[in-house]
Formats: sequence, structure tokens, C-alpha cells
Amino acid sequence: MKALVHSDKDGFAGLLYREIEEVKPGPGEVRVRIKIAGMNHRDLFVLTRHKATDAPLIIGSDGAGIIDAVGEGVDVDQIGAEVIINPGLGWKEKSDAPPAGFEIVGLPFHGTFAEYIVVPVENVYPKPSHLNWEEAGVLSLAALTAYRVLFTRAKVSHNMKVLIPGIGSGVATFLLQFAKAAGATVYVTSRSEEKRQKAMELGADFTIDSSADWDEALNGEKMDVVIECVGAATFNKSLKQLRQGGTIATFGASAGDEVTINLRDFFYGQLNMLGSTMGSAEEYKEMLEFIEVHQIKPVIDGIYSLDQFGQAFNRLEEAKQIGKIGFIIE
Ligand SMILES: NC(=O)c1ccc[n+]([C@@H]2O[C@H](COP(=O)([O-])OP(=O)(O)OC[C@H]3O[C@@H](n4cnc5c(N)ncnc54)[C@H](OP(=O)(O)O)[C@@H]3O)[C@@H](O)[C@H]2O)c1
Repeated sequence: MKALVHSDKDGFAGLLYREIEEVKPGPGEVRVRIKIAGMNHRDLFVLTRHKATDAPLIIGSDGAGIIDAVGEGVDVDQIGAEVIINPGLGWKEKSDAPPAGFEIVGLPFHGTFAEYIVVPVENVYPKPSHLNWEEAGVLSLAALTAYRVLFTRAKVSHNMKVLIPGIGSGVATFLLQFAKAAGATVYVTSRSEEKRQKAMELGADFTIDSSADWDEALNGEKMDVVIECVGAATFNKSLKQLRQGGTIATFGASAGDEVTINLRDFFYGQLNMLGSTMGSAEEYKEMLEFIEVHQIKPVIDGIYSLDQFGQAFNRLEEAKQIGKIGFIIE
């Protein structure tokens, strides 16, 4: 089968659209013929974590398609089912943190940027009926991450003021839609005027230029919650926008892992800081119910064919996108 495979060279240079041996489902597994796969910032990080000396790896974590084969112990009636894949392996119930052994498809196991993927049967869910294939294919990882950080961790609810820096991010567009659906007032930042406008169309109540003075832009208004995934470039500006006793929740660091914070301001402010990562199968199911009830659809930036992967990776690396980038697998 054809797939986007990382091998032989470190980094982006090791990525090739090429033939690789087809996979067969084992006991308790299904094989999905992928129709649309979705990109995440993780795919860029994987290119540095997977080494040239490791076994070739099909990358990619998001996908939706049709079950075309099942392994022992799986009902053959499942063949033909239209499904969406939860990329998280081994995290069943909502808990403080994932259990040992939790992994995400696309590293260390083969991912979705291929004609077929084999996953445990419990990782496939019926494709939400209000989503088309493109929307279903780009949903999973970002929407699950947004759901857990917003509701399980930061407990965002009606009438809370929530700030989301870097609205161009795929996860951030879900954060905006989910927080609005929950009745929060949502403030966003972006370096791009075009993305700020798009955010207003998606329901943002207030937008800020990321490079401006945020205190001035907010004119003294303070946030209950900030959901951070930009990292070093915005973290301290984010922290300063919290009300006393407010909460910052972080799950990403696109622009740098390390920050210095003023501890005295932090403890006098009675602030809270939470970490979050992906989510459990229980939260994935809740997220699917939530988007169905609120009829939420992913914001799609663009869909590419797999042989155009270079263009798609450049767009994500240069942060030109707003929302999700997908691949059509033919
Ligand atoms: N822990 C987890 O389970 C988990 C899951 C998903 C994602 N993540 C992490 O969350 C982050 C977002 O993921 P994603 O896939 O949604 O990312 P993405 O689509 O690549 O978006 C990153 C966004 O961050 C903003 N940004 C980047 N560099 C910036 C800078 N120097 N200054 C200001 N803003 C900057 C940009 O927003 P503007 O263009 O609007 O300014 C950009 O669109 C990544 O770090 C990813 O690894 C973690």
C-alpha cells in the first residue's frame, strides 16, 4: 500500500510517500481503509523523535474511513462500517493522568497517513452523522485534547471568561467552539489579522493581536481561565491576564518549552496551573456526544493529497493555517 513513511534520514528529509507492506488485523483488531487523515503539530515533533536508525514508521494520528477487514474475535458485521479513529491507545477511563503504556498512533506504532491502518476494535467509533469525511478525518486528536483540557481539567462553564492564545492552532479552534457552546465568553489572540477575523466569525467575543500589549487591549478585564498551547512566546502574557484565583491550563509549547515566571505574583495572585495531555476513551466518547449535541464541525484549513505532503508540512510549520489540515487518501 502507499503511505507517508519516515525512515533512513532524520527529520523532514526522512519523509517519503512510498510503498510499504500492507497490514493485517490480529485478534481484537480491525483494519480501516482510510479516506481522510488529519495533521497535527505532533507530526512535526515525530519527525525529530523518530530516528533514521529506527524501523520505518507510517506517521499521522487522525483518520476516518471504512472497516474492510477484522481480526479474530471481532464481529464480521463490522466490515463496511464508517468509522472515526481515537488515536489514543491504552487510556480507557477518565483519570488524573494516562496509565503507564499509553501511546498515540503515529509513533511508536504505524499511523494514519496510509491507505490502511490496523487498530484495536475499541479505538473505532461510528462516524458522527453531522460530519462529512473531511471533517471526521481531521477531528480526533485535537478535539479530544481540547475537550479534556477545557472541561475535565479547567472545568470551564457558563459565563466564565476564557482566553485562548494562538487561535490559528487546530486545537485552539476547537477550544473556541467548545467554550462558546458551553456558554463561556471567549477572548482569543493571533498574530494574523485574517485569523482574528475568522475567530470572530466562529463566535469569539474579543480578539487581540498577539504582538500587542494585552493589558492595554483588555483594558483591565481579567480572565477566569487561560488555555495555553503556544508556550514560551506567550506564557507570561497569558499569566498576567488571570483574575486573582484564576487558572492557567497548558497542553502545548509550539514556541518553546521553557519559561521563567514570577513566583511572588503567582502565589499572591492565588493562581492555579494545570497540565493536560490528550484524553481517555471515556472523554473521547463524551467529546463525540458534545459535538453532536452542539452540531460542531472542525474548521478546515485545507485538504491535500498525500503526495503534496511537503506543502502541507510547510504550511503547518510556518503556522499559516487556521484550523485543521487534512489528506485525502485515494
Ligand atoms: N499534550 C497533548 O496531548 C497535545 C495535543 C495536541 C496538541 N498539543 C500541542 O499543542 C500545540 C498546538 O497544537 P496544534 O496541532 O493545534 O498546533 P498548530 O496547529 O501547529 O498551531 C500552533 C499555533 O500557535 C501559535 N504560535 C506558534 N508560534 C507562535 C509564536 N512564536 N508566537 C505566538 N503564537 C505562536 C500560532 O497561532 P497564530 O498563528 O494564531 O498566532 C499557531 O497557529 C502544539 O505545541 C502541540 O504539540 C499537545
